[in-house]
Amino acid sequence: MAKRTIVTMPGDGIGKVVLSEAIRILDAVGFEADYVHADIGWEFWCKEGNPLPQKTLDLLEKHKISLFGAITSKPKSEAALELDPKLQGKGFVYYSPIVGLRQHFKLDICQRPCKTFSGNPLNFIRKGKGDSIEEPEVDVVVFRQNTEGLYGGVEWTNPPDQVYDALMTHQKFKKNFGWSDKKDIAVSTRIFTRKYSERICRAAFEYAKKFGYKRVTLCEKPNVIRETSGMLLAICRKMEKEYEGIWFDYTNIDAQMMWLTKNPETYGIIIAGNMFGDIVSDGFAGLVGGLGFACSANIGDKVAIFEPTHGSAPKYENLDPSIVNPIAMILSTCMMLDHIGETEKAIQIRNAIATVIKEGKVRAYDMLKLRGSQEVLQQGAASTTEMTDAIISSL
Ligand code: NAI
Ligand code: MG
Repeated sequence: MAKRTIVTMPGDGIGKVVLSEAIRILDAVGFEADYVHADIGWEFWCKEGNPLPQKTLDLLEKHKISLFGAITSKPKSEAALELDPKLQGKGFVYYSPIVGLRQHFKLDICQRPCKTFSGNPLNFIRKGKGDSIEEPEVDVVVFRQNTEGLYGGVEWTNPPDQVYDALMTHQKFKKNFGWSDKKDIAVSTRIFTRKYSERICRAAFEYAKKFGYKRVTLCEKPNVIRETSGMLLAICRKMEKEYEGIWFDYTNIDAQMMWLTKNPETYGIIIAGNMFGDIVSDGFAGLVGGLGFACSANIGDKVAIFEPTHGSAPKYENLDPSIVNPIAMILSTCMMLDHIGETEKAIQIRNAIATVIKEGKVRAYDMLKLRGSQEVLQQGAASTTEMTDAIISSL
């Protein structure tokens, strides 16, 4: 097979650390690729006024597949203060480059698998009958619509007259908000299109079929948010007929967060809009080890970017040796291998991770439930590199 080219975007802080560890794993499993570095993140905001340089977009456009570490993001006003003085007052406005990437390349399908590794001390446990303790085995993949909804960026404080006038034609708006001064009204829209709603539902059902999941659950709030959640529900209802043997049901996001700890083992594939998907995927991730284990894929028609869901963890960026858990990044890399058809290698890596976790001899500080600091290395925690080394030996 021809050698692949993978665009690597380490970004900021621990993004740089975990991405280089993931590449060591890819080398060890015999995956042959050329890695092309692409700039992204805080440094490029400060220096160039753009955290997502055009040359990075060009590299992604060309090579299509990318591994991303993490970036540091700050609110608009704080960001403005850190901009190179030469660029200040020139109209540069900070925006999150990862949200920018998702929208630019229409990476509309976000997959976030949350699977229990047996032996992980961070696994969720609950009380069973009598004094018994149960450790449910979670195997959930959240399909989050990644580009629309509440994170679509269509919002105003003091909306323009045309927007306000249009809203005033809605009886509910007139009655519930019409009393307020226009300048004191903030509007964040939740817009869904049929095209992208169908795409996320289709991707979820197809995944269930391919990997043998028996249950697909839409996690929204269709009884209250009737138009957008309602559209997803109608699409799922129609689609489920094409998938014999898969049980479709829906839950409300609020109730889902409660049920999360009651019976997480009963869920399979979860579909949700952008914000509810963000919330519910963090909820499930918390049951299987949290940020050190939470991997994800952002998949569009042409481009796909694989990243851990954690951020740049600035607290730990200067620790040498690094202590953060590389597993979330390595599992994201496995998702990339699956995506490009290198499933055998992905299985090998996941098995190696499973073995290391089960043996329990090498554990990152989060798995030992320690407060992160350099001292954890004296308290029995493995460094980032040692964790990777253990996975490589197990390979
Ligand atoms: P964070 O995910 O960077 O860190 C939160 C805490 O989680 C850390 O202090 C650490 O205790 C733990 N943690 C994170 N990754 C870990 C790992 N691999 N192993 C062990 N423990 C880990 O989130 P935070 O502190 O809210 O944000 C820091 C910066 O990252 C911010 O600038 C934020 O905007 C950005 N961010 C970027 C994301 C991305 O690049 N996709 C996602 C989330 C936050
Ligand atoms: Mg989140």
